[in-house]
Amino acid sequence: MLPGSIRRIFCAAAICCFVASLPTFAQTAALPKAARPWMNRSLSPDQRADLVIRQMTLDEKMNFVHGTGWNGLRPDAAIPAGSLGGAGYVVGVPRLGIPGINMADSAVGVRLAATGSHYATLLPSVLGAASSWDPNALFLYGSVIGRELRETGYNMSIGGGVDLARDPRNGRNFEYAGEDPLLAGTMVGKIAEGVQSNHVMGDIKHYAFNDEETGRTIYNAEITQRAARESDLLAFQIAITMAHPAGVMCSYNKETVTPSNTSADWSCQNDYLLNRVLKKDWGFQGFVLSDWGGTHSTVHAALSGLDQEQPSDIYFGDPLKKAVESGQVPMSRLNDMVHRVLREMFANGVIDDPPVTEVVNPFRGRDDAEHIADESIVLLKNQDNTLPLSPSSVQSIAVIGSHADIAVLSGGGSAQVDPPGGNAVNPHPGTSNWDEHVWFPSSPLRQIRKQAPNARVEFSEGTDVASAVKLASSSQIAIVFAHQWMSEGMDAATLALSDGQDALVDAVAAANPHTIVVVESGGPVAMPWADKVQAILEAWYPGIGGAQSIAAILFGEVDPSGRLAITFPRDDAQLPRQEVPGMKLAAEHPNKEIPFDVDYNIEGARVGYKWFESEHKTPLFPFGFGLSYTTYAFSDLSVDSAAHTATFTVHNTGTREGTEVAQVYAVLPAATGESSYSRLVGWDRLTLGPGESKTVTVEMNPLTLSTFDVAKNAFTMAPGDYTILAGSSSSDTPLQATMHIGD
Ligand code: BGC
Repeated sequence: MLPGSIRRIFCAAAICCFVASLPTFAQTAALPKAARPWMNRSLSPDQRADLVIRQMTLDEKMNFVHGTGWNGLRPDAAIPAGSLGGAGYVVGVPRLGIPGINMADSAVGVRLAATGSHYATLLPSVLGAASSWDPNALFLYGSVIGRELRETGYNMSIGGGVDLARDPRNGRNFEYAGEDPLLAGTMVGKIAEGVQSNHVMGDIKHYAFNDEETGRTIYNAEITQRAARESDLLAFQIAITMAHPAGVMCSYNKETVTPSNTSADWSCQNDYLLNRVLKKDWGFQGFVLSDWGGTHSTVHAALSGLDQEQPSDIYFGDPLKKAVESGQVPMSRLNDMVHRVLREMFANGVIDDPPVTEVVNPFRGRDDAEHIADESIVLLKNQDNTLPLSPSSVQSIAVIGSHADIAVLSGGGSAQVDPPGGNAVNPHPGTSNWDEHVWFPSSPLRQIRKQAPNARVEFSEGTDVASAVKLASSSQIAIVFAHQWMSEGMDAATLALSDGQDALVDAVAAANPHTIVVVESGGPVAMPWADKVQAILEAWYPGIGGAQSIAAILFGEVDPSGRLAITFPRDDAQLPRQEVPGMKLAAEHPNKEIPFDVDYNIEGARVGYKWFESEHKTPLFPFGFGLSYTTYAFSDLSVDSAAHTATFTVHNTGTREGTEVAQVYAVLPAATGESSYSRLVGWDRLTLGPGESKTVTVEMNPLTLSTFDVAKNAFTMAPGDYTILAGSSSSDTPLQATMHIGD
C-alpha cells in the first residue's frame, strides 16, 4: 500500500489559501412567514426556488455556491452558526426561512459521528451490498444512512460512489458497486433513493473516471467517447436518471474524452462531462459540487457546469462575485447555480420537513446491517459440502487470525465510520485516525461459539504460524480469517494478501484437511491456496452485524445468496494494467507530484468480466458467481424482441430452501464491433423452496442492448441477431436464445 497523504496536503493548501472573510450574512430583516410564497407546497420545486431567488441579495446567492471550510470550518474563524462539523456546510438564508446545508460523508454509514458523541451504524461495504443483487437491500442501505443523518441533524448525504471497478486494486472499490454499469448504476441509484426517502438530500460521486486513488488529483484519464458512455458514464446515467440525486460530486482527476475534449480538463470544469452529458443529455436538475479541493478555476468552472465549490470559497467566493459583477459570468448562470441547490432542497423536503434530532437506535441499525450482510456474503468454494457446519456434530473448531476473537474490519478514508467505544483492536476513545486499520466490535468467535454451544472453539491470533498450526491440527475444523485493508488515498500494489497471510493459510491447510477461509477485504484478492482449502467465504467488510452473518452462513442458518459484483482475477498479470498506473512514479519521486496519463482505452468499455471474456482469460472466480447450499437448474428460455424480455424457469433441485440470482446476458450483433463478450442486461433474485420451480420474466435494459453512436450522440440498438444467455453467473449460462431486432 502507498500511504495516502492527499487529505493532509489539501488541508494545508486550504489553510494557506483562505484569505476571504467570513460568509456575508444578509443584514436585511427577517421576512414574516406570511410573506414567504415559496412555502406554498402546491408549487413545483422550480417555482419555489425562483420565488426565493427573487428575494435574495447577491451575497446571499454567493453563500449558496461554496462551502465554509474543511469540515464546515474555516481556519482561524468561528464555526459558522448552524454547522454540525460534517464534511461540508453551506450557509442558508435565515431571514427567508432557508436553512443551511449540513453535509456528512456517508458512503457506508455516517462518518465522524463520534465527534458529536453520536452512534452511527457501519453497514457492509457497498461492493458487498451490491453483491446481493437485491435492489431492496440497497434501498434499505440508503434508508439507514438517511435515517441516521436525519437523526443527527444532517440534511445532505455525501456518498453514492459509482465509479466502475476498472482496477480491482483501487483503494475505494469497497465504496463502489463493482464493475458492471447496469448492476452498479442500479444499486447505487437505490442507495440514493433510500437516502432521499428520509427527506435528506442524496449525492452520487465521483464523476468521473476516479477509478484509482494513486495520483487521483493529478492523473488524466484517457478514454474514447463511445467507451466512456458505455462504461463508467453508463453507470452514472443509470443511477442518476433513476434516483434524481440532489447532488453529483465531480472528481479530482482530469479526463480527455476523445474526440470531445481536445485536451485534458479537470472533472470539475469539464464542459463535456458537466454541461453536455450530465445536464443536457441526462437532464440532471440538481447541483454539481466539487470534490473537496477539486475546483481549479472560477470563470471556466462556472461556465463549464460546476455549481458549488467544496469545501471552501477559493474560486467561488470573492473571485466569482467579481466575475458576476463584471459580466464574465452572467447573473443568469449564478441564478441557475443557486436555483439548482434550492430546487433540490424543496424537492427533497429539507425545507418543509427539516431533520428532527433524536437518539440513533443502534439495535435497529445493527439488524438492518446484518440483514444486508446476510445477502452480501459470497460462498466461493464448498468442496464436499463442508458447509454448512452442523452444530450438533461439530466437536472442535480452531478460529485463526484477523482479530476474529473480537472484531471485523472496516475500510478507511472519508468512508470511515467511528466504531462504538473506539477501535476494537487498538482502543482509544473518539474519532479514528485517517491511516488506521479500524476494527469494529463484532466478534465472529463469539457468534461461532453461540452457533456450536457444545463444541470446543478456540482462537489463535495467527501471527505465530506454529501455534496456529498446533491449534488447527488438534481441531476438527479450522477457520482462517484473512483480511485486506483498503482506504481512500491509496491503492493496493498487488492483489496478494499482506503480512504472510498466504503462508498462514497454506500452513493451516496442510495441518487440517477441513480448512475454511473467511476473507474480509475491500475487493478481490489473489488466493494461491484456493485448491488447498475446502471452503471459501468472501465476507467483504461485513459491517457491524458481520459476525452474526458470517456465523449464520457458516452454520446454514442463512443460505449464502451473494453473487460477485466484481471478477476475482487469479493474479495481477491478468489485468489490463499489470501495475497500478503512477504507483512506480510516485514511489520514485516521493516528494513531487508528477502528472501522468492513465490509458483506459486498453480495455475501453470492456471493464471486468468483459475484458476477461474477450481476452480469453479465465479468472479465479467470475463476475456473478456464488454458491448456495442448494442447487438450481435453468430451462425453457424464450425471448420477446418487442418487449425486450427473457422468460425462463428456475428449479431448486436440492432439498433445502435457497436464493438464486438468475442472470441474463446478451452478446450484441457482430456489426456493433462489440460481439467478443457478453454483457449483463438484467437479473432476478428469487427464493425457491426445495423442489420448487418458478418462471421468471426479466426485462432487459435497452441501454445495455445498445451501443453509443457518437455522431448521433445517442444510444442506438443495431439491427441483427442478439444472443441472449441466462444462467447463474457470467461464465455459467446454460440457456441460449436468439433475439432478432429488425431494421
Ligand atoms: C473524498 C470525497 C469526500 C470528501 C469529503 C474527499 O477527499 O474524495 O469522497 O466526500 O473528501 O470528505
